[in-house]
Amino acid sequence: MKKKNLLERIGGGIQRAERRVAYAILGAEREVRETVQAVRERDPAARNTAEILLLYSGVHAILAHRVAHKLQTNQHYFSARAISQVSRFVTGIEIHPGATIGKNLFIDHGSGVVIGETTEIGDNCTLYQGVTLGGTGKDVGKRHPTLGDNVMVGSGAKVLGPVKVGSNSKIAANAVVLHPVPENSTAVGIPARVVRRDGVKVKNDLDQVHIPDPVAQQLNLMEQRIAALQAQLDALQKGSETATAISPEIPEENRQMQDIKEGNE
Ligand SMILES: CC(C)(COP(=O)(O)OP(=O)(O)OC[C@H]1O[C@@H](n2cnc3c(N)ncnc32)[C@H](O)[C@@H]1OP(=O)(O)O)[C@@H](O)C(=O)NCCC(=O)NCCS
Repeated sequence: MKKKNLLERIGGGIQRAERRVAYAILGAEREVRETVQAVRERDPAARNTAEILLLYSGVHAILAHRVAHKLQTNQHYFSARAISQVSRFVTGIEIHPGATIGKNLFIDHGSGVVIGETTEIGDNCTLYQGVTLGGTGKDVGKRHPTLGDNVMVGSGAKVLGPVKVGSNSKIAANAVVLHPVPENSTAVGIPARVVRRDGVKVKNDLDQVHIPDPVAQQLNLMEQRIAALQAQLDALQKGSETATAISPEIPEENRQMQDIKEGNE
């Protein structure tokens, strides 16, 4: 009886393990299929599945991250980090195992991409080479960006701090995003500013480069006033010098008259 129970328990255990392996394989297979599909849809240079699977470093980095993230969520921190570091060594793309990444992420070219621990990326996003989704060094806890769905981050762009980039937005190549970007927008420059929203150009009437400097304006005014005062002073000095210079030549009778007028003895 006892032997039968033991055999039944072993049989049940094997069945459960088999089921888990089957789910893991199915999940991994779906993951691989979706990742490859994302590349096919967004990279016109992609030719076939074999090429994408074997030669796209972005695909390798994402698949390695899926494994590392699973280990991280099961608190196997060391092995999670080890996989992330090996992947970085091979692909040049560093994704912290803690980062939460949605479906169909496409990392094109990839080299130099860094994705921080508390980053959240929605579905169908695209990142180009040199993108940093990092922290500013000033925040603790949630300190990395959150990207909505269908976000594109151009090559070399940096999105820093716990800022949100709304769904369907584009971050231009080399932009530095420090503030939230609304949905359906394009942000460009350093620091990044929204130049297009819902397909319409956003007017930036204020010249961001040649803005008036109130301190310089005040200094300018003071300089003008000092120059005016100096001119007045010069004129007065010139007047008194002229007066002293010509005073000996005042005729004696005139001087007497002046003395009488001024009440001098
Ligand atoms: C921003 C981008 C996505 C275009 O988005 P868009 O919504 O179509 O915007 P537009 O092209 O209408 O540009 C809007 C304004 O931003 C400017 N702009 C575009 N890209 C810019 C950039 N990277 N840096 C600074 N300004 C930029 C445009 O000149 C335009 O300025 P204007 O209004 O004074 O004419 C695109 O320019 C870009 O940077 N893509 C990145 C692609 C990439 O990284 N490729 C790497 C392949 S290896």
